[in-house]
Amino acid sequence: MFEIKAKDNMGRVGVLKTKHGDVKTPALMPVIHPRKQAVDVAKYGADIVITNAYLIYKDEDLKAKAVEEGIHKLINFDGPIMTDSGSFQLSVYGDVEITNKEVLEFQELIKTDIGTSLDIPTAPFVDREKAESDMEITLERAREAVEFKKENNIEMLLNSVVQGSTYLDLRRECARELTKLDADLYPIGAVVPLMESYHYRDLVDVVMNSMKELGDDTPRHLMGAGHPMIFALCVAMGCDLFDSAAYILYAEDDRLLSTRGTYKLENLQEMPCSCEVCTKYTPDDLRAMPKEQRRDLIAQHNLHVSFAELRLIRQAIYDGSLMELVEERCRAHPALLEARRQLGLYSRDLEKYDPRSKKSAFFYTGPESLLRPEVIRHLEKLREMPKKRDLIILPPTRKPYSKFTTGKLGEFYIYGEQHEIDLDDADFMVLDIPFGLIPLEIDEVYPLSQNDSPKTRDVDSIEFIEDFINEFVEYYDQVLIHSRVIKDLDIGLYDKYESSQDIRYAKDDVKKVKAIADYQFGVGAGEALFTGNINIEKSKKTGKIRHIYDGKVLIVNMRASDSYLILSKEGAKRLHNKMPYPQNRVVVNKDSEPFALEGKSVFCKFVVECDENIRARDEVLVVNEEDKLLAYGKAMLGACEISQFNTGQAIKTRKGMK
Ligand code: GUN
Ligand code: ZN
Repeated sequence: MFEIKAKDNMGRVGVLKTKHGDVKTPALMPVIHPRKQAVDVAKYGADIVITNAYLIYKDEDLKAKAVEEGIHKLINFDGPIMTDSGSFQLSVYGDVEITNKEVLEFQELIKTDIGTSLDIPTAPFVDREKAESDMEITLERAREAVEFKKENNIEMLLNSVVQGSTYLDLRRECARELTKLDADLYPIGAVVPLMESYHYRDLVDVVMNSMKELGDDTPRHLMGAGHPMIFALCVAMGCDLFDSAAYILYAEDDRLLSTRGTYKLENLQEMPCSCEVCTKYTPDDLRAMPKEQRRDLIAQHNLHVSFAELRLIRQAIYDGSLMELVEERCRAHPALLEARRQLGLYSRDLEKYDPRSKKSAFFYTGPESLLRPEVIRHLEKLREMPKKRDLIILPPTRKPYSKFTTGKLGEFYIYGEQHEIDLDDADFMVLDIPFGLIPLEIDEVYPLSQNDSPKTRDVDSIEFIEDFINEFVEYYDQVLIHSRVIKDLDIGLYDKYESSQDIRYAKDDVKKVKAIADYQFGVGAGEALFTGNINIEKSKKTGKIRHIYDGKVLIVNMRASDSYLILSKEGAKRLHNKMPYPQNRVVVNKDSEPFALEGKSVFCKFVVECDENIRARDEVLVVNEEDKLLAYGKAMLGACEISQFNTGQAIKTRKGMK
């Protein structure tokens, strides 16, 4: 019912399948008013819309027509339709004249594609008792909805809404309990007041804590979120659906949406975009119009910018540049910048979902970029990598550093106690922002050379690197720091000046590929893969390593774009022999064994276990439950998704072992 096509951070491009057609996500569902709808939302790119079952139920004429002809006829939309239950009215008026059961039956009766139970939207910052008791009722009603669906064998998909106010443990508890129910979609509710009051930091806490417990295989909907300014941020947190009454509510109020915020028509000298409306009319034209005409035109502009933003977001996910877009968008308002910073506290959650390698380079957009999953992941790997006795820290040159770090390396500062430096027993690393220290052997691996940052450094990033290095030098007996590192970066990292050390980095291709293997597959992989008569073949044109053989037997290819190692059959066997279970493994059940052996792709539903360190785009081993090697290939998803999903491809197999 829901399949993921591309990922970046926790954002996904997916397809939601419904009886009335497929929906490409992240998607925006414009809110359709069952009586006063004037704008044709499909024209602006809406695949799916949302309307309110309770408002229809309460209106005798609408109700009669909906029951007789169905909701699709009533609102004249033949794509999928989601309906809300009246919960929002409940939160505004304190009461509704319908029960949970009644609203579920009604939604089924009018042939809604996706229906909603009567959850209780608990406002932010209420007292805990209220949040708890509301949540219990919400959970009870969600359970009732799932039972109702099962008992009556109903096709309508079900929303189960996460509540819990601003109590993060309640959000987690609610999400955990709802996930047990196996509903079809998980909206996150009662966030409108947070958004209206610019409490974006709390929004991040609420969404991320809900996400921690929601299944990855179901679409998540941020209810009532309709301002394009926050779409990128929310998509990066894992939201797949948005709904918007904002396009029309803002238009009623003469306000124009944009990704930079909201413009009041009364203040506009210029139209803010190049949509049909903005190119045809001036602000004066609009101001001179009758109210309704003006409202509909502004609503069209609002829809245009909202859908344009979602297209941009989906493209950014395909490109792997979603966080660049988020950081750009979060410059629109200090409260959004604060939210981006808050999201940094959840980097470990994001990291689990973030692909290992991306099409686009990592662009540093400011100190917030230091909190991205790629940085956290690299620093973690660095801590795990084998260490020599001493560390030599070099200044950044052009990338790849190893290519441009040659000859006499100049003056050094000694850090720590002084010993003889044994160059054979030293790690050479370049200090740069944002990846901290980059071992010269692995400097071509994504994203260590596929990144760009300004040459003028900001104070935050220098502090960040200093803190990391201060911790990291503990692994070493002695650290030599090149004087240029200290002078260029104004970094306070030395005890004593030592002049004119003649230090050279001796390139060694075998050491290099071993280090890449350790970095990519785990410590020990280099030794496992590269034994025997190692023969390294380079591209005549670029001089880059392309193939690595033992004698004439191919072990791995090195991919030019990101310098990751791609296993051959022999490489897979060697890795499997030496690396302990469950490292690098995806375990499949008996049924799928023959297919894997033949080299057919592995689907999530056949996976019984997998190494929790697997990330999308990793090269992995496919084994059976006795750890017999069946195949090898590329992971399409991260470990947590592979374990949870029941549909879709987990591994694109390169070859079966048959
Ligand atoms: N629309 C906006 N917020 C909510 C919510 O919390 N629950 C429901 N059902 N609809 C909403
Ligand atoms: Zn416009």
